[in-house]
Amino acid sequence: MRRYLIAGNWKMNTNLASATALAKGVAAAAPKKLAKVDVMVAPPAPYLLAVRDVVKGTGVDLGGQNASEQAPGAFTGEVALDMLLDTGCSSVILGHSERRTLYGETDAIVNKKVHAALAKGLQVVLCVGELLEERKAEKTNQVLDTQMSGSLAGVTSEQLAHVVVAYEPVWAIGTGLTASPEQAQAAHAHLRNWLTARYNASSAAATRILYGGSVKPDNARELLSQPDVDGALVGGAALKPELFVPIIEAAVAVAG
Ligand code: PGA
Repeated sequence: MRRYLIAGNWKMNTNLASATALAKGVAAAAPKKLAKVDVMVAPPAPYLLAVRDVVKGTGVDLGGQNASEQAPGAFTGEVALDMLLDTGCSSVILGHSERRTLYGETDAIVNKKVHAALAKGLQVVLCVGELLEERKAEKTNQVLDTQMSGSLAGVTSEQLAHVVVAYEPVWAIGTGLTASPEQAQAAHAHLRNWLTARYNASSAAATRILYGGSVKPDNARELLSQPDVDGALVGGAALKPELFVPIIEAAVAVAG
């Protein structure tokens, strides 16, 4: 059985005071839910320690939003995977569409990061998703296949156990447009079939596939009810406990 994962990607938002307050809000509500659902927050790197101190012992996991594939050294402005581990992270988000489109991260770069993160024992939340023009041109599946094979090149089925896939249609991120439950399910089923073909049926069945893109309390339940949707990667609605906690609650309700 796949456990739901509700992950909050805070992106380049919050300050020290609001990050701490937000973490407190999530941590206060989370323990009651954690029997059935995994919860993770990914604050900006400078606030990881402060957030770690708030969520410690509550069962809320901590994730990085990105990391360098390089070992610590002369890489100005980068954050090493060792630093994420050192500041309490158990996961790292890789290949987010903002990294891909704004910072030129290719599948080859994402693949290096995936290998480096897995070698460090971090869980990888690997983001894939198509642009609006790609969906309109009916290239969604093709784009997903290319991103999956490029990003997961050389990743073994044993390592796949530490990978969570996040399907995030780029046109739905931060836009208020959400994939319909049917669109999400179709893409998730396609991704699971890809995993079956590339790995095997049991690895594919065990891999969590999150949906991301304008997930809100009012659409979470329907999205999470889809058979191949195993959680959510939440941006905007992860910045307010009164929006994020109901999404966790929706997962708890659907988990039964
Ligand atoms: P959004 O962001 O929920 O604000 O659309 C999702 C994401 O980018 O992970």
